[in-house]
Amino acid sequence: MASLQSLRWLFGLLAALCLLAPVLAEANVTAGCGKTPTLTSGQRTLTVNGKSRQWIIRLPSNYDKSKPHRLIFGLHWRDADFKSVDTGSAPYYGLRALAGDSTIFIAPNGLNKGWANSGGEDVTLIDTILQTVSEDLCIDQNLIFSVGFSYGAAMSYSLACSRPKVFRAVAVLSGALLSGCSGGTEPVAYYCQHGVRDSVLNISNGKQLRDNMLKRNGCQAKTAQEPARNSKTHIKTEYSCNPGYPVTFVAFDEDHVALPKDSGGDGGANSWTIPEVWKFFSQFT
Ligand SMILES: *[C@@H]1O[C@H](CO)[C@@H](O)[C@H](O)[C@H]1NC(C)=O
Ligand SMILES: *[C@@H]1O[C@H](CO)[C@@H](O)[C@H](O)[C@H]1NC(C)=O
Repeated sequence: MASLQSLRWLFGLLAALCLLAPVLAEANVTAGCGKTPTLTSGQRTLTVNGKSRQWIIRLPSNYDKSKPHRLIFGLHWRDADFKSVDTGSAPYYGLRALAGDSTIFIAPNGLNKGWANSGGEDVTLIDTILQTVSEDLCIDQNLIFSVGFSYGAAMSYSLACSRPKVFRAVAVLSGALLSGCSGGTEPVAYYCQHGVRDSVLNISNGKQLRDNMLKRNGCQAKTAQEPARNSKTHIKTEYSCNPGYPVTFVAFDEDHVALPKDSGGDGGANSWTIPEVWKFFSQFT
């Protein structure tokens, strides 16, 4: 009788642990969870290495302080600024329209309309913004992402190099090695796309970054097909990599365009890129 009782007790304990385990495994949230936030949507300023730096934050309209949110950085291209990412026909590279109330978006501003990241100062900017929002907002620390085009793609790649534990995945749209790569040995889930007719940063640049990530993420070799010129299409290659570190590469028949469409030119909010990047980011939960 006694042993039956203790067996029952043991089963009860095991069941409780099984129910609790996923909760414990997922509990990696910021100190801001449960706090009434002081940050609201809009433009902010902070000081990094003695320089005044600007950024824009967008909270979901129904921000819930007890719900851990995804966080996506949208980094601007060269000769643009943070407002270019925050406004226009497809804010935050079109992702904001798909995110509902799940996600907080941040557009930091580069210096001199770019991301030279001299001495790592732009990485420090991202670190400082993350510290600031973590204390105030409820963020799932396993769901932090960065997306950018051109110079903003280069900076997203740089973040994957120097902050591989912080960023769950990055999306590099027509990127090149322009913002440095400090570290650059650890895996990070990686989406990238590049135009086969890119006349600003040719496609070799994008493939160079991709090939580095394929090594880091332990991916199997695979030949990525590219669309013929004037075929007006795109071809996606998904690599088989170490669990949790997928790599996707899309080659498209266009020039240096952030949000291409298959009929040619800039697709804006109708670009196939938007659902592709969203699908890549939102596979992580
Ligand atoms: C929690 O998040 C931090 C910061 O992003 C990361 O360094 C750490 O590895 C995460 N821990 C777990 C258990 O996922
Ligand atoms: C592509 O760009 C890189 C970097 O600017 C350059 O070294 C390379 O020669 C270019 N390749 C082609 C095929 O134009």
